[in-house]
Amino acid sequence: MIGAAIPAIGRAAADAGTNIVWEHLPFGADHYLETGETLPDDAYRHLRDEVDAIFLGALGDPRVPGNEHARDILLGLRFRLDLYVNLRPVRLLHPSLCALGPPPPGTAADPEESGRRIDLVIFRENTEGGYLGRGSARNVGTAREEQISEEIHTAPKVDRILRAALEWATKHRRRRVTLCDKANAIPAHRLWQRLFHEIGHEFPDIEREHRYVDALAMELVREPERFDVIVTSNLYGDILSDLGAGLVGGLGLAPSANLHPGRPGLFEPVHGSAPQLAGTGTANPMAAILTGALLLAHCGLEHAAGRLENAVRAALEAGQTTPDLGGSRSTHAVADWIVEWLDRTG
Ligand code: IPM
Ligand code: MN
Repeated sequence: MIGAAIPAIGRAAADAGTNIVWEHLPFGADHYLETGETLPDDAYRHLRDEVDAIFLGALGDPRVPGNEHARDILLGLRFRLDLYVNLRPVRLLHPSLCALGPPPPGTAADPEESGRRIDLVIFRENTEGGYLGRGSARNVGTAREEQISEEIHTAPKVDRILRAALEWATKHRRRRVTLCDKANAIPAHRLWQRLFHEIGHEFPDIEREHRYVDALAMELVREPERFDVIVTSNLYGDILSDLGAGLVGGLGLAPSANLHPGRPGLFEPVHGSAPQLAGTGTANPMAAILTGALLLAHCGLEHAAGRLENAVRAALEAGQTTPDLGGSRSTHAVADWIVEWLDRTG
């Protein structure tokens, strides 16, 4: 499906004078089932040393119930390339997409506004937390089975994601950065608060605040407009980014970038492979196209990225949408419409 997004991304880049050379790598469920190989070392080294960016289609296939290939490829690339920033914007691109009613009384959102304005970015730590799969097991398969899963939080890694969020907020003139953890129940999370406090002094223009993850989930549903930047651990970032996507039209519109400044980034829609949609031609290509916008911006093509996003907004405005957004268009019809919009306005 991600292939449907490529003409639009290529077109926006070409309008900005850049010809993207796409290279297609076969790794995924089919390749794994045929060869037993997930991501071979030479492919990994190629991605590390010889490309500008990686555009990754959703992984996950009912024929691989243990999801080993997805773990190896997606989490493997995040860890091995040390892509420590998982940047996940949550933006309401059209008022009709908002899952929420009018803002509750007494909140900062302007009650005179007919729609809601949601525009926040989640900075998800992407290299440790509970995702390293460390731990141990005893008495497996018995009534006394015990599974121990370790969450790892180390100062240098917490430090760098906090800085990434604070620096991004400064650069993009965002006022507030919210730290999210669960230190009231998980003492290890106090490290996040200590470092946020210490590093925060280097960013006097940014308002810093803290929320426990449960309270933040509630507030995001009540009043998402008050948040600018949220910085959090791997697991909470995973959960909150789906919650965020649900506020602004669902996973069909949610892009993400896995970054390590100065290295090639890995760009993927937040959504999975949606096997129930496979072959129907109705999956929404917009998340992949918006992910392409993040990719272009990361490669220095900010203007092209902005045009791609405007093209998606125009398609939404024109009702050119797939069934998940209430439309009746196919994946390719939506993607073609977006390319035509770029042609018309280029
Ligand atoms: C995501 C996905 C992955 C994650 C899964 C597929 C391991 O949900 O990118 O949000 O949890 O990071
Ligand atoms: Mn997820």
